[in-house]
Amino acid sequence: MTKNEAMKALSEEIFSCTGCQLCKKRKKAVPGEGSLMARIMFIGEGPGHDEDVTGRPFVGPAGQLLTKMLASIGLTREEVYICNIVKCRPPENRIPFSEEAEACLPFLRRQFAIIRPKIVVCLGATAARYIIDNDIRITRDRGKWYEKGGIPMIPTYHPSALLRDESKKKEAWEDLKQIKKRLEDITENE
Ligand code: URA
Repeated sequence: MTKNEAMKALSEEIFSCTGCQLCKKRKKAVPGEGSLMARIMFIGEGPGHDEDVTGRPFVGPAGQLLTKMLASIGLTREEVYICNIVKCRPPENRIPFSEEAEACLPFLRRQFAIIRPKIVVCLGATAARYIIDNDIRITRDRGKWYEKGGIPMIPTYHPSALLRDESKKKEAWEDLKQIKKRLEDITENE
């Protein structure tokens, strides 16, 4: 099976998933989007209103900021992969319950296996806790590199947090610069 076929099959499973209660209220599940050859994967928390309506990740206000953040380090949405911990919108955008995240994580693991990114960026505490370490505190641990399964991973602020508190943007920019450098280093050493 090609990567395309594998991701298409996985997305079909996600669209029809009834593995947790979030399926009851969703309009559309949001598998993820971007390049299947992406060297870098950005993982958020879960779809919001605009994502639920369109079936696409990070297309609302936070998504527009994410697109700008990517552009600031020379990346386009088309060349990275963007997805979430949970693929269906939690009501009122609440943080997903652990049983919802646990039910959905096998999809993310399969997305990792298809894309095999060289770097993973966790946007916000929820992604960082499920992917890197449950004890992560985003204000304390953002900008630090971790390694899981041989893949460098870094937590940074979720773009929604940056929209709520502009003063965090300076630190987010430091993180983005590090991410750019790490990506360049990996590319040079290939
Ligand atoms: N917030 C997220 O965590 N993910 C999205 O897709 C949109 C907003």
